[in-house]
Amino acid sequence: MADPCRNRFDGWYEEMADDELRHRLVAESLGLPASMRVTGLLSAAGLAEVIDTLQLSRGQRLVDLACGRGGYSREIARVGDSELIGIDASAVAIGQARADLRQDDVTGPIRFQVADFEATGLPEGIADAVVCIDSYQFASSVGALFSEARRITRPGGRLVLTGAMRRTWLEDTATSPIEEALIDAGWTGVRISARPDWLAAEERLWRAVLAEPTSTPALEAMKSEGAELLRAMPHIQRFIASAVRAPSPGVIHRYRSGRLEHPHSSRASVAWNGRHPTPPYQWPPPST
Ligand SMILES: C[S@@+](CC[C@H](N)C(=O)[O-])C[C@H]1O[C@@H](n2cnc3c(N)ncnc32)[C@H](O)[C@@H]1O
Repeated sequence: MADPCRNRFDGWYEEMADDELRHRLVAESLGLPASMRVTGLLSAAGLAEVIDTLQLSRGQRLVDLACGRGGYSREIARVGDSELIGIDASAVAIGQARADLRQDDVTGPIRFQVADFEATGLPEGIADAVVCIDSYQFASSVGALFSEARRITRPGGRLVLTGAMRRTWLEDTATSPIEEALIDAGWTGVRISARPDWLAAEERLWRAVLAEPTSTPALEAMKSEGAELLRAMPHIQRFIASAVRAPSPGVIHRYRSGRLEHPHSSRASVAWNGRHPTPPYQWPPPST
């Protein structure tokens, strides 16, 4: 009988746990270090931009909402010399994230725990920055996710979100539910930018998976997912969104209704193919 406590992602993580071929294809196609265990589709350039946008400094605390096996956020915390709390709904993913830490002999201030990212149970204002990589689409309510992210972020702290959305939502942000939901949850300084080069990296990955002659259960699942996503690709775009925690939702509400001047714009600005300043993070490291 199925265990009702098992998360629907548990089997997924079990299936791919030791599939080195899967991990190699992902890391190579996305340009990531071979040892990095990820289930999102963020390329090395994407990771560099996330690190740069989070602006973490030494000793600050990062919360990763839906951390999976923790590959991305461990790297973000390492570069920023910061603390990390990773939460994920899958107990199997969290078990693997903890095992990876032990295997890599990492003893820094890193904690992985099972929790729902819409109700983490973390104390209010605990995070200097919150990241959510390629996972917002699993929220039962993005409003609840963004409100919880705001609750656990200290005033002035940042949120960085990556994922994919319909191209039309990025072409006309007035139709984007992400922008509205972020503003409604009390985030300010919202910026949403399309990232076609990240989508190109994702496409490379799916093509590499489909061309791989070896068959493993994890790869077979990826092949079906890849075929479907390649068909959808003309209609989707990858994006990065960032926002700053505003003082209180009430202030933003009054600002939006024209009753208050607010120093920061809470409207989204969309930078089409905007070039980002050279990020400090690079993989592989530049040769000296
Ligand atoms: C595509 S994976 C991305 C994981 C990780 N961010 C990465 O990029 O490696 C999506 C993750 O969302 C997690 N997830 C789904 N629903 C969740 C929820 N309600 N609360 C917390 N995590 C959730 C899944 O367990 C899975 O680890």
